[in-house]
Amino acid sequence: MATLATGIALLSALSAVYAIPTRTLQARQAITTLATSQISMFKPFTFFASAAYCQPSTTINWSCGANCNANSGFQPVASGGDGSDVQFWYVGFDPSLSTVIVAHQGTDPDKIAADLEDANFFLTNLDSTLFPGVSSSVKVHNGFHDSHAKSAPQILSAVQSAMATHSANRVTMVGHSLGAALALLDSVFLPLHLPSTTIFKTVGYGMPRVGNQAFANYVDQHVTSLNHINNKEDVVPILPGMFLGFHHPSGELHIMDNNAWVSCPGQDNDSNDCSTGDVDNIFEGDVSDHDGPYDGVEMGC
Ligand SMILES: *[C@@H]1O[C@H](CO)[C@@H](O)[C@H](O)[C@H]1NC(C)=O
Ligand SMILES: *[C@@H]1O[C@H](CO)[C@@H](O)[C@H](O)[C@H]1NC(C)=O
Repeated sequence: MATLATGIALLSALSAVYAIPTRTLQARQAITTLATSQISMFKPFTFFASAAYCQPSTTINWSCGANCNANSGFQPVASGGDGSDVQFWYVGFDPSLSTVIVAHQGTDPDKIAADLEDANFFLTNLDSTLFPGVSSSVKVHNGFHDSHAKSAPQILSAVQSAMATHSANRVTMVGHSLGAALALLDSVFLPLHLPSTTIFKTVGYGMPRVGNQAFANYVDQHVTSLNHINNKEDVVPILPGMFLGFHHPSGELHIMDNNAWVSCPGQDNDSNDCSTGDVDNIFEGDVSDHDGPYDGVEMGC
């Protein structure tokens, strides 16, 4: 009894010791500007996200222009989608980054902005076969959910095969626009089916809000490395509106009007330096910022 009480006292003492510095740290977390060297680390992922717009093939160097061929040495493993009903996707291995790449095609800026403004969608539960064990309080946009489900099983088996063929333990998911929403869903989905030793990374560009507060919290707790990069006054990252119950996870990087990249702490940071604060409403947004440039790279084929 005494031991148990001592144990509990010790635990509370420990959590007190550890909790205070963490809170202090979060309160003090500032908006910081990225160095040029930090920005350039995203470049290969930007090219990979862009290349998903070009009908992928497993032929090395499928004909898709500079953005696709920029990551020379990339070894495609599988691809799918038709560019209309099912977004294009591809999976392969990049030897210089030593990671499996999963890339998702996005969609036309005007189309995604219009779709997310007309509010003809709702929050739905994650499919329990694809996402076993995730709480039913976690809900996502029904259209993103259905779009993701169309290729999820094929992508999982392509990733398993790429990991085996290349003895890889890193998986990086990328996408722009709708493709970023699909990459975020993959970053929740794939870890539920792959070895726990796998090291995951997610980079999204112009990512819309994908799910509710419980989803954003789930992502913050489980998705180990996430950045979603928003360009200037792009309207897509502020859609669907928070008043509809949608929330971003942490990990925003915002490209400012002077082309500086800043890291925005927390979820939906409402500072004027971050998307949610900078683009107060859809009339302040500019859909022509959606495709970039992201450090000089325009998304598309
Ligand atoms: C693919 O394209 C890159 C850049 O254009 C080139 O350096 C590389 O040799 C090409 N690889 C193949 C297998 O054709
Ligand atoms: C936004 O960033 C500031 C730092 O400038 C931070 O103090 C604040 O907590 C952040 N807001 C949210 C909602 O996370």
